[in-house]
Amino acid sequence: MAAPDLERRSKEEMRLLTLGGHVGFDSLPDQLVSKSISQGFSFNILCVGETGIGKSTLMNTLFNTIFETEESGHYETCVRLRPRTYDLQESNVHLKLTIVDAVGFGDQINKDERPIVDYIDTQFENYLQEELKIQRSLFDYHDTRIHVCLYFITPTGHSLKSLDLVTMKKLDSKVNIIPIIAKADTISKSELHKFKNKIMSELDKNGVQIYQFPTDDEAVAEINAVMNAHLPFAVVGSADEVKVGNKLVRARQYPWGIVQVENESHCDFVKLREMLIRVNMEDLREQTHSRHYELYRRHKLEEMGFQDTAAESKPISLQETYETRRKEFLCELQKKEEEMRQMFVNKVKETELELKEKEKELHERFETLKRTHQEEKRKVEEKRQQLEEEKLAFNRRKAAVEAMQAQAFQATSQQPLRRDKDKKN
Ligand code: GTP
Ligand code: MG
Repeated sequence: MAAPDLERRSKEEMRLLTLGGHVGFDSLPDQLVSKSISQGFSFNILCVGETGIGKSTLMNTLFNTIFETEESGHYETCVRLRPRTYDLQESNVHLKLTIVDAVGFGDQINKDERPIVDYIDTQFENYLQEELKIQRSLFDYHDTRIHVCLYFITPTGHSLKSLDLVTMKKLDSKVNIIPIIAKADTISKSELHKFKNKIMSELDKNGVQIYQFPTDDEAVAEINAVMNAHLPFAVVGSADEVKVGNKLVRARQYPWGIVQVENESHCDFVKLREMLIRVNMEDLREQTHSRHYELYRRHKLEEMGFQDTAAESKPISLQETYETRRKEFLCELQKKEEEMRQMFVNKVKETELELKEKEKELHERFETLKRTHQEEKRKVEEKRQQLEEEKLAFNRRKAAVEAMQAQAFQATSQQPLRRDKDKKN
């Protein structure tokens, strides 16, 4: 039977009955509330904006406390994500708040959004891995998925930087983006109005999807619709309290006057706090899980080869997909093994051939050397014989000269004797 038919039949079979008295399941919402309270909540904010734009000051102002802050230098070599987790308590509600700073973003041209995207994906991946475990402990799992990205826009009054547009475009399918104009006290009221319109039209033109406060829940539909029209919020943060009248208020004091953070005619800080913390915190958590995480999970599982229905729209069980993938994997492994074996054989053959070539070459060189050596030897022998002959000839000549010398000597020594004999006679 087709699924819609089944659904219709089960709807038809469901009959409305009245109860004879109070049973008690009307306490379910209360049970849910008390369970949630005992469990506590986690909320993770990612702050993206250039160094010194006022991220830490705004966080401190929003939560009315002083978080650890560490100024970032302008000489970071790359964008680095710095998460810090705090346990906050208001009445009996515990909030595990993580503030993640994108340190070094927007300082230099080579600093792009990739580390931010990777960080968001890593948190999704960690959650998915926990979900896929056999022994899951999602109940006390510290969910680090980013619920909202506060994107701090520099109050230039001109237009968005291309880095802002590219970054927001890359992030919009992964996280709820709330754009805010930082240090809004540095821009005049009329300029601010134009700047807001310009930003919204640029975001629209570039297809950047920012977070819209939900209007499907009647209780908050009206306020959310009004607030959507105020985006991006122009905010002012301050660590100082200034006396206005007889009240101490959070403000920034200038020689020409005071900018009150919580004064709605001065800036949109209250609107941001109302929307982010008091009205839509749960929707941001819900959207993160049901929209952004769902998208990541779907892509990831599809990438791993899982699918719900086959080409003929027949449902496929997880078991079937697993078996198919396992077979495919084993086949691939076998193919790879065969390829490796073949590669090894080829390599051995190649090396063998190379060795033979080398041996042949060596042999030829040896032969040539042998020939050269014999030739040299023959030449030396010839030379030796020639020298031997020359030596013999020399010796003969020497003997002849010596004989001649001896004769001459004899002749000269006999001449005075004869002369003496002649004289005596
Ligand atoms: P890094 O973490 O170092 O990137 O800086 P950051 O973005 O956290 O800025 P931080 O909050 O440290 O503020 C930097 C400076 O800007 C401080 O001197 C703040 O007092 C000032 N500042 C913060 N918010 C505002 C604001 O709304 N208006 C004005 N005019 N100055 C502000
Ligand atoms: Mg900071």
